[in-house]
Amino acid sequence: MPHESESSLAPATVAVSAGRPPRTPDGPLNPPLVMASTYHAGGEVGYGRYGNPTWEMLESAVGALEGGVATSFASGLAAVAAVLDLVPSGGLVVAPPDAYYGSLEIVSRLESQGRIRVRRTDLTDTARLAEAVDGADLVWAETPTNPLLKVVDVAALGERCSAAGALLAVDSTFATPVLQRPLEHGADVAVHSATKFLSGHSDLLLGVAVAHDADVATRLVETRSVLGALPGTVEAWLALRGLRTLHLRIERASANAAELARRLAGHTAVSTVHYPGFGAMVSVELRGAPQAAELVCESTELWVHATSLGGVESSLERRRRWSGESEAVPETLLRMSVGVEDVEDLWDDIDHALPHG
Ligand SMILES: Cc1ncc(COP(=O)(O)O)c(C=O)c1O
Repeated sequence: MPHESESSLAPATVAVSAGRPPRTPDGPLNPPLVMASTYHAGGEVGYGRYGNPTWEMLESAVGALEGGVATSFASGLAAVAAVLDLVPSGGLVVAPPDAYYGSLEIVSRLESQGRIRVRRTDLTDTARLAEAVDGADLVWAETPTNPLLKVVDVAALGERCSAAGALLAVDSTFATPVLQRPLEHGADVAVHSATKFLSGHSDLLLGVAVAHDADVATRLVETRSVLGALPGTVEAWLALRGLRTLHLRIERASANAAELARRLAGHTAVSTVHYPGFGAMVSVELRGAPQAAELVCESTELWVHATSLGGVESSLERRRRWSGESEAVPETLLRMSVGVEDVEDLWDDIDHALPHG
């Protein structure tokens, strides 16, 4: 749980100060890495599948940042699956047509198994939200979306969901709690692939679901305990270490992204820039064939050609190289995760790799 005094602090301060052991003489400043599959009998936890002090430190920090109760999972998708497990059997899930394809794949699997019913609706159309969420048990939103970077009005959606009696879950991976805190705007659960910006160093997989209400958090913990999609202890420790600099990384990467989006919009090789005006992600559609877009990815020396995002290093990829990616994503779209390097070096590298004239 967030420390009382942390609730009024700015995100930068919370990122640094939350999730620390008590201040006792000779006590460590950092959480211990507790490697344990089991515990001495007689306590409340008992076994490693039910809890771990290192997870708890990460959870208390992420919970304090988002303003809720956090539960960590083995990966972002394990967190997504646990949130979807909140839906009663036969319940209606409203999901957007474009979002991270792995999340949409879970929704489709549950639908084809007859576990849930699904309505696919554009949640960026604020004027039509009331009819979009009518009758829903859970609304799944992602903002900004991966990889088209579309933005949902979370406050408007939260209001509609609460009127309709639907739970609202928001995948906030691309924004991070430094830029967007869905629980403050009516969401019931904020979800993160902590693999990305929260941990920030491309060295682990982890997920977090932060619930507004304690009873929802309890159900998420139950799902984790029963299904066993547990975070690794080392991963949780590393994620918390990465989280300490979240605000600095986001500040620098966002400034870089804004400048690069501006320059890319004027580049002759680029037909469209997708950039929501905040955050560290930029997607560009290139003129020409998909092979030419692939060649750009292979020609950079600084930008890393790799999937995933949110690391200190800048990376890019053509999303449609993945067969599961939606056909709504243009074939020549490059998703760019902007890192914290010097912006002029990043520009020189990408400008050199892009075709000219
Ligand atoms: C927006 C979003 N949500 C969830 C996930 C899944 O996270 P993970 O890869 O940690 O399972 C991703 C992965 O790319 C993502 O981009």
